[in-house]
Amino acid sequence: MAKMMDKTPEVLCEVVKSGNRFNAFDILDATKRTSEISTTTRKRAFENDCYLGRFTTSTGKFQWRLLNKDDVNVNASSPAVNDENTPVVEVPTDHAEVMAFIHGSYNLKPRGLMMNELKWKYLMRSAVRGKNIMMTGPAGCGKTMAAKALVNALDRPDFYFNLGATQDPRGTLIGNTHFEEGKGTYFSESLFVKAISTPNAVILLDELSRAHPDAWNILMTVLDYGQRYLRLDEADGQNTVKVAENVTFIATANIGNEYTSTRQLDKALMDRFTIVEMDMLNESEEYELLTYMFPNVDTTTISNVSKIASLTRSESSSDTARIPSGISTRTTVELCGLLYDGFSLEESAEVSIYPQYDNTGGVDSERTFVKQIVQKFCDDGSGEDLFNEDEVENASTI
Ligand SMILES: Nc1ncnc2c1ncn2[C@@H]1O[C@H](COP(=O)(O)OP(=O)(O)O)[C@@H](O)[C@H]1O
Ligand SMILES: [Mg+2]
Repeated sequence: MAKMMDKTPEVLCEVVKSGNRFNAFDILDATKRTSEISTTTRKRAFENDCYLGRFTTSTGKFQWRLLNKDDVNVNASSPAVNDENTPVVEVPTDHAEVMAFIHGSYNLKPRGLMMNELKWKYLMRSAVRGKNIMMTGPAGCGKTMAAKALVNALDRPDFYFNLGATQDPRGTLIGNTHFEEGKGTYFSESLFVKAISTPNAVILLDELSRAHPDAWNILMTVLDYGQRYLRLDEADGQNTVKVAENVTFIATANIGNEYTSTRQLDKALMDRFTIVEMDMLNESEEYELLTYMFPNVDTTTISNVSKIASLTRSESSSDTARIPSGISTRTTVELCGLLYDGFSLEESAEVSIYPQYDNTGGVDSERTFVKQIVQKFCDDGSGEDLFNEDEVENASTI
């Protein structure tokens, strides 16, 4: 017998494939909820032909579970979700409406993404105006997250390519030539060719700064506003694919001199983009994000984590910096996950922060320097003073 539902889900979604991404739409009002659900979960729901139901766990967290379609009673009057017909934000064309759309777009930013209002609106504006966008900033500051949030906010077919992970730029961006007995040689074009041929597509080029220079060369004509074509065979120069109407590209790049493994992005390529610089969060933004993400972790500890991160960030950008980079938000999020699972601040720092800093040079090493900062915020060993007045006060309001 099929597993019965123990509770009714608070929200029910159907997953639809668009491009190479899986989008989740609310069954009742077709709200796009992609950004609330992990990629793996959406993919699993799609592949198993299941709905996704949202439940609140005893710790107050949202959890999305796969639900057998036969076990769910969808009200017959609810609108069906289909591939073609689910406007989330219909992008207007009239100038007054475009302006209203851009300036009212901050509510499309997911709460879990910390990004200031002006930057978010600039990102939206660039997308609406068909610019090629490049998100820059140090590693772990939310570039990929912001790019995905933008893609999710727009109701357009979306494609994701991680260029930092591909060893074969030609195969990924153009396609491969195969040989088969009886069939001879034939060419199978890449998903990227399909992506650029899709009108209104939003194409995410993640980790462009880590891509092979061949990838940059191939993309040069594609991204050029005056050319906008992909050359399939560089030898004869004839066989090209045009970039369809209204296609938007969003790339991400780790820019910062500490990234030695990142190749210097070609100036000519950079010139083809509108740059949106992702800022490192300041102490209070970091605190706001972490307390929002980890409501069950003690706020004093989170405040200490935010201070540690912010101290390392200002140190790394000072003239006399003793460390090459500050602790990223990716790392503070990981660290809070450890705190949530019962590790102490000292233990969490030891596994998530210290390995990122060079250990050579003993007491003068980068690692020693960071350790000293962290230790200022760790228990002095007395351990008794677990509940100070602040915490008792906060505990009663949780
Ligand atoms: N500005 C931010 N707002 C919210 N979360 C962030 C932010 N920056 C980093 N994070 C956290 O760090 C993780 C890594 O961010 P990511 O977007 O992959 O960084 P990048 O692409 O810049 O290296 C995210 O999954 C998120 O948990
Ligand atoms: Mg990234």
